[in-house]
Amino acid sequence: MDRQTTRISPADIDRQREFCEQIHERSAALPTPPLAFVDTYGCQQNEADSERIRGYLASMGYGFTESEEAADAIVINTCAIREHAEDRVLGNVGALVHAKRRHPGQIICLCGCMAQEPQVAEKIRQSYRHVDLVFGPHALWKFPELFCRVLTRRGRVFDIADEPGSIAEGIPVVRQSGIKGWVSIMYGCNNFCSYCIVPYVRGRERSRKPEDVLAEVKALADEGYRDITLLGQNVNSYGKDLGLDIDFADLLERIDAIPGDFLIRFMTSHPKDASQKLFETMARCKKVAPAFHLPFQAGSDRILKAMNRVYDRAGYLDKVRRLREQVPDVVITSDVIVGFPGETTPEFEETLSLIEEVRFDALFTFIYSPREGTPAASMPDPMSRAEKQANFQRLVDVQNVISAEKHAAYVGKTLRCLIDGVSEDAGSALTARTPGNRLVRVADGDASLVGQFRDVEITAANTWSLFGKLAGQG
Ligand code: 5AD
Ligand code: SF4
Repeated sequence: MDRQTTRISPADIDRQREFCEQIHERSAALPTPPLAFVDTYGCQQNEADSERIRGYLASMGYGFTESEEAADAIVINTCAIREHAEDRVLGNVGALVHAKRRHPGQIICLCGCMAQEPQVAEKIRQSYRHVDLVFGPHALWKFPELFCRVLTRRGRVFDIADEPGSIAEGIPVVRQSGIKGWVSIMYGCNNFCSYCIVPYVRGRERSRKPEDVLAEVKALADEGYRDITLLGQNVNSYGKDLGLDIDFADLLERIDAIPGDFLIRFMTSHPKDASQKLFETMARCKKVAPAFHLPFQAGSDRILKAMNRVYDRAGYLDKVRRLREQVPDVVITSDVIVGFPGETTPEFEETLSLIEEVRFDALFTFIYSPREGTPAASMPDPMSRAEKQANFQRLVDVQNVISAEKHAAYVGKTLRCLIDGVSEDAGSALTARTPGNRLVRVADGDASLVGQFRDVEITAANTWSLFGKLAGQG
């Protein structure tokens, strides 16, 4: 039973395929196939969305390029999480006016989270008149129809209606990698952390049906994908809207049973929903990688409350302790915000002490960025930018020492790693990932090993990566 989620009907997706075919006919009539450039900002969910946009474009007869000049269509898939990300996008979109002047007929599309913000859409409408199509995450499934409208009428199209969100199955996909695959298991977020724009632009939490997720993972496994990441803003609340007797741990267990030699990862988790059952399931499931991204955001209870995170410091530390009890070698990473409105230096120091207590393997660190329309944006924020910057630097320095120490502890160990690429560094031949997803620069081997699991002996380490050689190679 679906309680609330709107599911786009197969007939609606078929209609989008018809639009693709119409455009494909136009493309086939051109002397050379038209080219598209898809530029992606932000998180893995956006990467996954861009793979669907590429899927649609390929069905429309488009080839791909990385050149703005050569592209007949440019799609910019944007991120709204921080102001800095938005400024970068707007700068780059502004500069496209020159490419378009040299390439009349070029179609410029802006999509993703920024497009779903009313004030950004208005700015594009008024001041970026070279942008032809603007659509938010809610409208991604009907991209062919919107694109067709631009192509045939040559008018500007905006599809940015606010809605709780839907789920569409059966959108074609062109994946960027043949080794690592992203599988969205749910969309949206219900948590409304007071600093965060995501629930406003990506709508409410909605889960894909387990059979759809399982079919996608099975297809990837059959194609030889080695590293499959399950995606959602808060994967731990998977299934709550489905009205079925299945939660995230159950889903993991079912994915683990799919035959094949692959690792299962997942992100992101909210501490409030990371359960003992999940930790025990991870410990039991052979394919689930020993890696857990568990954002804590702040170390002070007063700030956690103001952030609406609904757990406290002690509760977070308890989850970490129980996770390590079940999965002793687990690699724990986290997100943290410095300079939330009203955070004092002693409160910031509680963040530092939490980092020292947990000893994360790596941290993603952010300076608070006010997002219009979120509760935190109207909270008093007396600390100067310079003070926040100084605290941020203190935090990075503390974490860098911990990361280096954690990495040093790998030296001398041999780990089964996934060779995931050819190294661009002079001193190494290949790149690889440990089961916990730490980067290893491998001294020997060649491109034929990419996509294989190999035992790698770790010989050295620094703050950012490990160094190793193929085991048994002298
Ligand atoms: N300012 C700074 N960082 C933010 N994040 C989310 N919103 C903001 C904001 N307004 C961070 C959080 C989240 C990560 C994806 O981005 O740490 O976990
Ligand atoms: Fe944003 Fe909080 Fe939802 Fe994460 S859990 S997407 S930080 S509102």
